[in-house]
Amino acid sequence: MKRLLSGLAAIAFALAAPLPAHADRTPDDLRELSRTLRVHIGSAVDATALAGEADYRRVLNQEFNHVTAENAMKWETVEPQRGAYDWEAADAVVENARRNRQQVRGHTLVWHNQLPAWLIEGVDSGAIDAKELRKILRSHIMTEVGRYRGKIRAWDVVNEVVDDTGKLRDSIWLKHLGPGYIADAFRWAHQADPRARLYINDYNLEWDAKKIETTLGIVKDLKAKRVPIHGIGFQGHLGIQYDYPGDFAGVMRRFTDLGLEAAITEADVRMVMPATAEKLATQADYYQRMLSTCVANKRCVEFTVWGFTDRHSWVPDWFEGEGAANIMDENLAHKPAYDALLAVRRK
Ligand code: XIL
Repeated sequence: MKRLLSGLAAIAFALAAPLPAHADRTPDDLRELSRTLRVHIGSAVDATALAGEADYRRVLNQEFNHVTAENAMKWETVEPQRGAYDWEAADAVVENARRNRQQVRGHTLVWHNQLPAWLIEGVDSGAIDAKELRKILRSHIMTEVGRYRGKIRAWDVVNEVVDDTGKLRDSIWLKHLGPGYIADAFRWAHQADPRARLYINDYNLEWDAKKIETTLGIVKDLKAKRVPIHGIGFQGHLGIQYDYPGDFAGVMRRFTDLGLEAAITEADVRMVMPATAEKLATQADYYQRMLSTCVANKRCVEFTVWGFTDRHSWVPDWFEGEGAANIMDENLAHKPAYDALLAVRRK
């Protein structure tokens, strides 16, 4: 009996003891890192590259357990003509994710960019009045969220709704529907998929004081009205020519203290070209600090990079003279940033 008890005690001790030393060895890849950190690690997916490039597909599916369609779920892509839907690219991303056990972030339902021409022109000309616009938005959300019901872990319901002065962005949504469109969008999305986590997502939210205060106000107001909002998305588009946003952890905490989960949804770290070893080292440090910020907050559940390779990046097209923003180069070789992510541990 004594023997049995001490045997049981030994087993109990072994179970409670810290993980053996080998658990601290460097993970083989980002999927293994994700398991040890208990944070989903994702990438934006370029649907054209997914369809056409075998090496891109192989690395995406090997490394990531979470994906976001870079453009394939945006309104201009899914409804290029009024009432004529094109789900081909979005379906391909979701189907590839299912086959490779990746969870999906839906991106994005309500935004001021990448809207179809018929919608912008209809609103501009007055052919679509406010009442109809509200119906169109409701139907867009119900249709898209409904199509992927049960297949999307989290939706970016509203994207970039606060401008750079800290005001609600003067989009067609605010202009014609008033500020209530935000609550409506969350309610409709929740109706269409009650289990999806619903996010408000923005850039510069890591550090822009005005944007932070306004966004906190929006979240508090939605919560007070019992609107189903569950998450805060920090896009995480950084550049090494700017200081690292030093209080990012504190900012994230202010949102998660309201009961939200958090995600870093579009991480990339650009630089003025050409890249040098020194710049790549700074970039690696910024990536590592972003992931560490997520890992240090119990409610931060996802770290997603906005593409994983410099072969396919929005940066050179959008920021003149800048580039090299991703964790792998054009040939999918690991950059210092990749290794810096692998080195992150839970404290
Ligand atoms: C970008 C895509 O990466 C580009 O391919 C596209 O031309 C423009 O949009 N914030 C967002 C993303 O929420 O949807 C944007 O993606 C990058 C900034």
